[in-house]
Amino acid sequence: MYILGLSSYSHEAGCALVKDGVIRVILEEERFNREKHTWKFPRNAIAACLDYEGITINDIDHFTFFWVPFREVYGNLVHVLKYFPRSLNLLKAPSGSEDLSFFSRVKLMNNAGTRIQDEFQLAKAPKVHFVEHHLCHAASAFYVSPFKEAAILTIDGRGESTSTMMSVGQGKKITKVKEIKTPHSLGHLYASVTDYLGFRPFFDEWKVMGLSAYGKDTYVKDFEDITRFTERGEYRLNLKYFKFHTHGQAAWVSDLFLKKFGPKRDYHDEYEQKHFDIAYALQKIVEKTGVYLARYLESVTGMPNLCMTGGVVLNCLMNKRIIEETDFKDYFIQPIANDAGTTLGSALYYYHHVLEQPRDYLFDTAYWGITYANDEIEKVLRAKGVTYRRSENIAKDTACHIADGKIVGWFQGRMEAGPRALGNRSITVNPARADMKDRLNARVKKREFYRPFAPSVLEEKCSEYFIMPKEQLSPYMILIGDVREEKKSVIPAVTHADGTARVHTVNKDVNPLYWELISEFEKITGVPVLLNTSFNENEPIVCTPEHAVNCFLRTEFDVLAIGDFLAVKS
Ligand SMILES: [Fe+2]
Repeated sequence: MYILGLSSYSHEAGCALVKDGVIRVILEEERFNREKHTWKFPRNAIAACLDYEGITINDIDHFTFFWVPFREVYGNLVHVLKYFPRSLNLLKAPSGSEDLSFFSRVKLMNNAGTRIQDEFQLAKAPKVHFVEHHLCHAASAFYVSPFKEAAILTIDGRGESTSTMMSVGQGKKITKVKEIKTPHSLGHLYASVTDYLGFRPFFDEWKVMGLSAYGKDTYVKDFEDITRFTERGEYRLNLKYFKFHTHGQAAWVSDLFLKKFGPKRDYHDEYEQKHFDIAYALQKIVEKTGVYLARYLESVTGMPNLCMTGGVVLNCLMNKRIIEETDFKDYFIQPIANDAGTTLGSALYYYHHVLEQPRDYLFDTAYWGITYANDEIEKVLRAKGVTYRRSENIAKDTACHIADGKIVGWFQGRMEAGPRALGNRSITVNPARADMKDRLNARVKKREFYRPFAPSVLEEKCSEYFIMPKEQLSPYMILIGDVREEKKSVIPAVTHADGTARVHTVNKDVNPLYWELISEFEKITGVPVLLNTSFNENEPIVCTPEHAVNCFLRTEFDVLAIGDFLAVKS
């Protein structure tokens, strides 16, 4: 039985193809239309999915969707009445995306079946099963986790109206325990401060997390007044500090917030210590809230394991604290924690919860994208006039270039699903050289100085370099570890200002070629670690050989290792 899960008309539009409860392909539309976090209907992603599997749209048994539009209409109606008349501003504000209003978005979502019919020229519109957003998130983690039963915590900006959900997964069923509704939202708290600090909400939260490592505890008490806990496992934002609940994305923080913390930073303004301190205070309150929620869930469910996902769970620092400060026996974090993961979640929820089909599948890889054969790659290299050679041992040859201080684009196998490059669409450099971070930024990535780069480490060598929370591995780069004191000077390019690193542990069986690359690098340098960042330059991660070659030619890369081919710039 094929189920195609879809997300669209919000951020991270995409699709997931599931066959008999087993993932086949997960793709985001942004990789094809080249618009970061695109909301547009995932026509290209669906077509690529079907093509990869060798089926047509007629072979799909069920279509599922990551949102229930009518639930949002009801939730918003209640919300508008509660905050009337200021809430009337919401009717004019962008919704889910800068290009969409609330009404147009709901209409588009509701007509998802017709859109599939039009795009794929079907005789009639297929029935689409709409699944609640946070149930999609929860399903995307629990059903592919190794646990028969688990507590589930999902935290994001908002779904139809829910921003945080606690639930319990047992066998085929997921049961809600508690929901926290917008405007009380950790995701929107983070988005508000992201906007205040001069960045794009829902895009640049990474920057705020990076800034926080340079901050001091000047404003921690103030942020504790902004986010308060109830005794029933809930948190409440002090709405006096915000405007988003009445003005939407047009205005995030209130005059009181500005009075307390000073004027909003413009994107081009110089950084002041205050900005780092505000990011620090925000980060601390988000971590504290995450721990509070997880502990409550632990106490009321008594479940042995915890599954987590949702956009806020991309906050690896919070995840680290949750693991360190709760007593669950084991943890599973769905790495496709943004809304791209809800495509999978809606399909799995329908398959297991609604159709009551058995579970026997474990999530053990994130390589769910498209792959390209050597002859396809070579055609592109020739067409673009790139000088290249075929390598007999691509891992060994590439490792020599990395050790030599070169910036290398590494394009191999199936593309990763989710926001992280995990060694198949990656740029890698030598982490032992302190100057490589600045060099990489100046020549390719153009990132701000305070944003860290992550290490990929051979799984078996992880504990030599990093102290991981409860010795958890981090195969999907969704956990922070502390760099061991004696290793900070060994891998300076991937050690953040606060002594942490967002670790990617590489397993030999899961990604043998990338493991081989790191291993060859270790033979030359003695260091079983590579700096790993996504293969892109201010754009979605490259998907096709053409994207990769274009990026290589456009930027100041030194080397492109693509399939079995090696191109070296003179
Ligand atoms: Fe979400």
